[in-house]
Amino acid sequence: EIGEMAQELGMNAYVVGGFVRDLIMKIENYDIDIVVEGDAVILAKKYAKIKGAKVSAHYKFKTAVVIMKDDFRIDFATARIEYYDFPAAAPVVEDSSIKTDLYRRDFTINTMAIKLNKDEFGQLIDYFGAQSDIRDKKIRVLHNLSFVDDPSRIFRAIRFAVRFNFEIGPHTERLLKHAVNLKLIDRIVGQRLFLEMKYILSEKDYIKALKMLQDYEVLKFFHENIYLSKDRLEDFEYLEKLLNWFNIQFKKELEVWKTRFSLLFHPLKVAGLQKLMTRFEFTKSYKKHFLTQILKARNAAIKFKKQKVIQPSFVYNQFKEVEDEFVFYTAAIIGEKYEEYIKDYFLRIKHVSLEINGDTLISLGYKPSKKFKVVLEKLLDMKLDGIIKTMEDEKMMAKKIFEELSCERDC
Ligand code: CTP
Repeated sequence: EIGEMAQELGMNAYVVGGFVRDLIMKIENYDIDIVVEGDAVILAKKYAKIKGAKVSAHYKFKTAVVIMKDDFRIDFATARIEYYDFPAAAPVVEDSSIKTDLYRRDFTINTMAIKLNKDEFGQLIDYFGAQSDIRDKKIRVLHNLSFVDDPSRIFRAIRFAVRFNFEIGPHTERLLKHAVNLKLIDRIVGQRLFLEMKYILSEKDYIKALKMLQDYEVLKFFHENIYLSKDRLEDFEYLEKLLNWFNIQFKKELEVWKTRFSLLFHPLKVAGLQKLMTRFEFTKSYKKHFLTQILKARNAAIKFKKQKVIQPSFVYNQFKEVEDEFVFYTAAIIGEKYEEYIKDYFLRIKHVSLEINGDTLISLGYKPSKKFKVVLEKLLDMKLDGIIKTMEDEKMMAKKIFEELSCERDC
């Protein structure tokens, strides 16, 4: 339909980039990027109209996103045309604009397009040897200035290499190393840099990616202390074992990058973490949230190591304000010795709750006060540790605790 419409408007439309790459590699991908020779905003609007979808357009860049009723998104971009900049001369188009657009992209594997116009529907366009590089399993840039044009491609090269189990081509590798030497990483905008790290840390084989980042001397750019020793790598391997366990047990998705991120930057003290988050352009509230979680997790780790007898109430209290992702950070740094407690926490401890609540205390004749919280917390600890079991136990014990509390003050 998009192709038909483009044809009517006298435009050419192509699906490009990651979608085509993954199609050729037989990998699922639902991110559709359309490039239009012509005004993409006009095409996107027309398409959205017949689909009853929403459009969000960026007139300056001539891009648009069509958001379907089921929230499925399609990105539309206008093919960027390269002009020769002769003063006072009319701009001259070099090659076809789709070719120029594709030439500006990061790696050959991402430069394929499929034409959507009716006449040539389905025609695969591969100007830069993408299919051959996919067969060779190689990540290759299109030209020598690729990393200079966009240094975030240093991270992208590693991410794609790891995801597809490809090698970075020798010439591309030289260019990448050169870009690192030129300290081009310092020029990457904070949010972009963070996003690239988040993507890498979300990859299945991210440990391999971290090793590559270390070998290319990229990790240093975050902080001189970020170094992956053999022991540190073992911590990561252990973390993955635990995350796998969680995944199988609960079939629930965690934002695993958060745990991996915390472990990666474990060598940093508070000031270092703050500086890093500033570099990543975290918002003030996100910074506070993230830092608090990391520090609570670190604190829990210290407490675990100090604690001689570990009871369920102890485990519960260490983690009650810690998000699951950060509990696994604690787990990774305290190690295998404490594994049973971590598993017990997720399987049981975390879900224990009292039969009674504040209303029950009122019905027992107590006046609501700050004491309620203290009493309920004490009761929960007792329940966790098996001291009380039934609702009757809870009520009886509540009375006893209230007596003790008032006695502390009065007797
Ligand atoms: N691109 C680029 N340089 C960048 C980022 C992106 O040339 N620094 C190009 C790539 O050709 C890519 C396209 O823009 O195919 C879309 O980018 P993105 O959605 O980030 O990448 P995908 O290839 O779709 O990868 P993923 O599967 O991770 O979404």
